Order: sequence, then C-alpha cells, then structure tokens
Amino acid sequence: MNILVVGGGGREHAIIKKIKENKLVNTIYALPGNGGIAKDAICVDIKATDIDGIVDFATKNNIDYAVVAPDDPLVLGAVDRLNEKNIPCFGPKANAAIIEGSKVFSKELMKKYGIPTAKYEVFDNMDKALEYIKTAPIPTVIKADGLALGKGVIIAMTRKEAEDAIVSMMQDKVFGKSGDHIVIEEFLEGPEVSVLSFTDGKTVVPMVSSMDHKRAFDHDEGLNTGGMGTIAPNPCYTADVAKECMEKIFIPTMNAMNAEGRTFKGCLYFGLMITKDGPKVIEYNCRFGDPETQVVLPLLKTDLLTIMQAVTNETLSDLKVEFSTGSACCVVMASKGYPVKYDKGFEINIPDEISNSVYVAGASTKDGKMVTSGGRVLGVTATADTLKDAIAAAYEKVEKISFDNAFYRHDIGAKAMKILEER
Ligand code: AMP
Ligand code: GLY
Repeated sequence: MNILVVGGGGREHAIIKKIKENKLVNTIYALPGNGGIAKDAICVDIKATDIDGIVDFATKNNIDYAVVAPDDPLVLGAVDRLNEKNIPCFGPKANAAIIEGSKVFSKELMKKYGIPTAKYEVFDNMDKALEYIKTAPIPTVIKADGLALGKGVIIAMTRKEAEDAIVSMMQDKVFGKSGDHIVIEEFLEGPEVSVLSFTDGKTVVPMVSSMDHKRAFDHDEGLNTGGMGTIAPNPCYTADVAKECMEKIFIPTMNAMNAEGRTFKGCLYFGLMITKDGPKVIEYNCRFGDPETQVVLPLLKTDLLTIMQAVTNETLSDLKVEFSTGSACCVVMASKGYPVKYDKGFEINIPDEISNSVYVAGASTKDGKMVTSGGRVLGVTATADTLKDAIAAAYEKVEKISFDNAFYRHDIGAKAMKILEER
C-alpha cells in the first residue's frame, strides 16, 4: 500500500512510525514532512494547506490511503477533496472539522445537546461585549472564534484584562477574522485531561488519557506553547471519571454530530477539565493532539492503520483496540527563545540507539545533516511499566541528544507523580 500523511510535525512523525509497523505498507509519503520524518518516509515539498497540491500529488502517485493530521487542511476540506478522487482518508470532512474550526459552533452544539461545558455568551459586537464584561464574573475567559493557531484564548484575571482582550480581538483584529465573533465564558477550575478517541460515527473508542504541559518553563512558568511535554495515562482520569465522560460527553458528542448531519469520522480530541461538578469540555480538536500523540501511540498495541481503515469503513465496533497498561512520557526539546523568537540551523546529534524514540517536529536537512528549523525541535518518548520509570527513561534519552540553544522542561510528569504519590 502507498500511504500519504499530510503534515510535518512530531505528531505526524509518531503516526508515520506507527503506520510503518503494518507489513502491507510499501511507501509512505509525508507532505511536507521534515528533516527527521525523512528517515521514515518520502518527504514531498507540498504545504499541508495546499489542498490542490495534495490532491494532485495523491492522484498522480497511486495513493491507497491518506491520513490528514493537522487542523487547517481538515477545516479546509482536504478529506472531502481526496474522497472525491476516491482516495480513502482518515480524518473528518470539513463539515465535521468545524467542531474545532469554530468555537461558536462547538459551544452551541454543547448547549443544544446538553454536553457539560463552561457557561458562555457569544458576541459579534464589541460594544455589547464590553457592556457584558462590566458585570460578568471575573476571572473570565475570552476566545476568538476561528482556529487562530491555538493562541486565540485569553484568561483574564481582571476586568481590565478582559476589556483589553475584547478590544484586541474585535477592534485591533490581532487574530484576524477570528475576532469577528468571540466567546466569553465562565472560568473553570480543576485538572485538565486530554482524551483522544477514534470514532467512525457509530462507535467511539477513547484512547489512553494524557496530560499536556503547555507553559514554556518548569513549574508552569513562562508563556503558553504548543506543548512542552506529555505523559500518559493521566492519573486524574480515574475509571469513574472515564465512565462519566463516556456517558455524558463522548457518546453525546458523537450523536450530536450525527443529528446535525455532520458525522465525525477520525480522531476526535476531547480537552477536558475535571471540575468539582464533574468533567466539562474545554475544547474539541478534530485531530490527534501534539504532543499527546507522542505518548498515546507508543502505548497502542493494536495496528494503527487497521484501526484507521476501520474508522473509514465504519467497522470500528468489530475491532478490539488495545493499549498497553504501562505509562509513557514525552519531553519536548525546543530552541531557546521559543515560543517567541529563536535561531535556527543548528546541527542535531541523536545517537542511533535512541533514534526510534525521537519524534522530530522542527528540523530540516542541510548537507546531509539534520539541523534545527523550528521552535519545538523534537519530542523524546519513553515507555515503562510505571510513570516514574517512563519519566526517568525519557530524561535519560534527552541527556544523550544535543544541539546548540536546546532547552526543555525538567518537570514533565512531576504534577502527575505528585497526584499518584498523594493517593
Ligand atoms: P483552548 O485553546 O480552548 O484549549 O484553551 C487553551 C487553554 O486555556 C486550555 O488548555 C485551558 O488551560 C485554558 N482554558 C480554556 N478555557 C477555559 C475555561 N473556561 N476556564 C479555565 N481555563 C480555560
Ligand atoms: N496539545 C494540544 C493540541 O494539540 O492542540
């Protein structure tokens, strides 16, 4: 089989390494891939947002199956367009990807179908939003409607911060058109859990839970990033919480999308907060999370491509999807200055014996060597029977990798360990 994977980050590298385990796979193309993915797939210089280019490449290269991993091409309808050419895909169509593409859509879906989430109001008029904020409970959360590259969320701790956020989104358009509509929502408190799931619109199969570490520095200090590390499973996601999520969130969301004529097929990501009133949805993503995928897939025992094809064929209920009972930890190594400004082009040294555990996010190839090209450069994953051992093993590998200006958090998994030790 010839497989095409759209995307070029650590998540795509993890997906590609896993798909490679299937013996029926001959060639994997990554569009655009990166300098690390190039060791596991043929990288083709077509951007993940170039839908015409992707479709053109797929039709000319006998692609048997395509995996569209990032949010933008999904929201732009890459799956619809590939399906038109009879190329089966993993990933939702555009009319279902809107669950991530529009926060207004997802909030209204949850309200209509009684799915627990933060209370909210939607505004398309700045004066009305500013009027509302005068009496709204503080802290509050302000979200721009569109994708906004994951940055369109501001937690306002004071009324002044909330006003400034509204003006910057709706008047100064710091997130572009995403600021035409904003959501102002209740500030929730509690531990956060990420749950990725496979769904074919008939069955929803949650994967092992995980915990992201979004801030740049140790002890959750510094700016928000795309994610500096992950662990799985998340100790806050107990069997009771999992049961409640299945009954009140996962199945109702799948049914709600069906009822709206927007059947979701692919990986539906639930960003949850476990509040004192039970689990609530913070956000939906229409795709695998990054760097959640880098801890979830290494624990997957069932063949990934087989699961993906079952999702496409709507036969997921026939499959037994199994995860290892162990734990995983992924430490992201980034370039100093990320997420703001950083230098690129530094040679990356990874010893051969650990290269299998490294998921490359931001690297290119120069004179046959791998050099840094992004803020997040790579994710280093280890699995073990216990979380403690997985963390230790991940850091042991990190110590063996070097590139100039590298930095990483030293406390990935520490919060989870504390929760486990206090039990
Ligand atoms: P989102 O892009 O919607 O995932 O939001 C980014 C981050 O903002 C989340 O991971 C949470 O940490 C935080 N956040 C979003 N919504 C809320 C909320 N209603 N209450 C508290 N924190 C939130
Ligand atoms: N790690 C969060 C995300 O993929 O959006």
